[in-house]
Amino acid sequence: MQTLRGRLTAWYSGALALTLAAFAGVLYLDRRSASYQDLDQRIQSEASLTAGILAESYRARGTLVRADTAQRPVLIPDLAALLEAVPDFLVITARDGSLLFASSDARALTFQQVEQLRSLASAPLSGRSSGTVRLEPNGPKIHYVVHYVTGAGPEFGAILAGADVRTAELGPDELLSTFALVLPLGLALALLMGSWISRRALAAVDRIITEVREITDGRSLHRRLAEPLMKDELGRLAETLNQMMTRLERSFAALRRFTADASHELKTPLTVLRAGVERAITTPNLPQDTLATLEETLQEIKRMTELVDALLTLARADEGIAPLHREPVDLRGIVEEVRETGELLAEESGVRVEVATPPEPIVVAVDATRIRQLILNLLTNAVKYTPPGGTVRMQLGSANGRVTLSVADTGIGIAPGDLPHIFDRFWRADSARTRTGERSGAGLGLAICKWIAEAHGGRIDVVSRPGRGTTFTVTLPREPPVTKT
Ligand SMILES: Nc1ncnc2c1ncn2[C@@H]1O[C@H](COP(=O)(O)OP(=O)(O)O)[C@@H](O)[C@H]1O
Ligand SMILES: [Mg+2]
Repeated sequence: MQTLRGRLTAWYSGALALTLAAFAGVLYLDRRSASYQDLDQRIQSEASLTAGILAESYRARGTLVRADTAQRPVLIPDLAALLEAVPDFLVITARDGSLLFASSDARALTFQQVEQLRSLASAPLSGRSSGTVRLEPNGPKIHYVVHYVTGAGPEFGAILAGADVRTAELGPDELLSTFALVLPLGLALALLMGSWISRRALAAVDRIITEVREITDGRSLHRRLAEPLMKDELGRLAETLNQMMTRLERSFAALRRFTADASHELKTPLTVLRAGVERAITTPNLPQDTLATLEETLQEIKRMTELVDALLTLARADEGIAPLHREPVDLRGIVEEVRETGELLAEESGVRVEVATPPEPIVVAVDATRIRQLILNLLTNAVKYTPPGGTVRMQLGSANGRVTLSVADTGIGIAPGDLPHIFDRFWRADSARTRTGERSGAGLGLAICKWIAEAHGGRIDVVSRPGRGTTFTVTLPREPPVTKT
C-alpha cells in the first residue's frame, strides 16, 4: 500500500481481527469444556438420585421387583412411574444383566441401541465407571455414567444415566455462530476507525509537508513551521526541522555576507589599480608593446570591476539591503539614454537598433539607475548575441495598468533546454562560453535583470527560437506595490 495511512489502517484492523478471533476461540473452548462438565455433573447426580430413590424405597417396602406378564422381572409400577421423572437416558439392570427399567428417552431408541446401553450397564463393575459412546447404528453420541447399585435388594445390578452430548455442544455452537456474525461487522468497524484514527494522526504530517514545500529557496528560509503545543513525535519533528532551517538560514546568511564583504573589499584596490593604469597609459613616448599591454590590463580591470559590482549588487539584494530609490520618471527618457549607448555598441558589431516609444509620457515611480541597468543589460546581450546585419528592436508600451518593455533581436537564439537556466547566476550557454573572446561576460547580467524586475514588483519573460532570435519582455506595474521598499 502506498500511503502510511493505508498501512496503519491495515495493521490496526489485522491486529484487531486477530485479537477478536483469539478471544472468540478461547471463549468457545472455555464454554465447551464448562458445558461438558455441567453435563457430566447432571448425569452423575441423576444416577445418584436414582440410587437414592431405590435404596429409600427398598428400606420402606422391601422388594422392588416383580414379574411381568411374560415372567420377566421388572420394576414395580409406582416406582417406575416415579423414575419416569428423571430426564435423559436412564437404564437399570438386574444382577444377571437383564433390563429392569428404561426411561422414556431410552425406550424411544431402537432395540439394538437399548441393548448397547444395557450391556454397558451390565459389564463387570467395581463402584462406577463413565464414558462416551456413539449408539449404533447412527444414533446419538451419549455421555454416560454407571453406578453399581447397593442397598436396594439382591436383584439389582447397575444404574446407567446418560445424556446426548449435543445438548452440551448447543450453547458453544450458538456462541460460535454469533461470533461469525459479529466478527465481519467488527472488522468493518475496525477498518473505519483505523482509517479515521490514522487520518487524524497524520493530518499534522500533511500540514508539515505543505509548510516545508512552501520554503522553496534561500529567500523563504526565514519561515518556520508552526510548532504544535504538544511535544509529541510530530511536535519534535517540526521543532527539529525548524532548528535545521535556523542553521541553514545562518549559513546562507554567512555565505551572502562573505560575498558582499569580499566584493566590497575588492572595490577599492580595483579603483586604485584602474587609476594607476589610466595614468600610466597617458605617459608620452611609451613603446608600442607596453601601450598594448597597458590597454589590455585596463580592459581586464574594467571587466573585473563590473563583475565585482554585479556580485555586490546580488549579495546586497540577497541580504535585503539593496533599497530602491523610487522616483517618478518618464521611462521614455531612460530608453532614449540607453539607446545612445546601445547604438555605439551596435555600430561596432554591425547591428541595427530600432526603438519604438509611445507619443505620451510613461511616468512610473522606479529606481531610475536600476531600470537603466536592466535595459542596458538586455540591450548589450541582444547586440552581443546577434551576428552582423541583424536587428535589435526595443519597444516600450503600456496597457492595463502595466508597462511593458521588450527587447527583441534576430540573433543566435537560446536552445529550449537552456531557457530555464538563463536567469541563473554565472550561467552562460555553451555557444557563449566557447566564444568568450568576442562575447565577454560572467553570466550575472540576467540574474541582476530578474532581481531588478522583481524588486519593482514586476517580472521578466523570455521567448526564443534558436537561430531566429530572442525576445525578453519586462513587465512592471504602473503603481508601485503597497508593501515593502
Ligand atoms: N539576446 C540573447 N540571445 C541569445 N542568448 C542570450 C541572449 N541574452 C542572454 N543570452 C544567454 O544567456 C546567458 C546569460 O546572459 P547574462 O546573464 O547576461 O550573461 P553574459 O551576458 O555575461 O553572458 C548568456 O551567456 C547567453 O548564453
Ligand atoms: Mg549580459
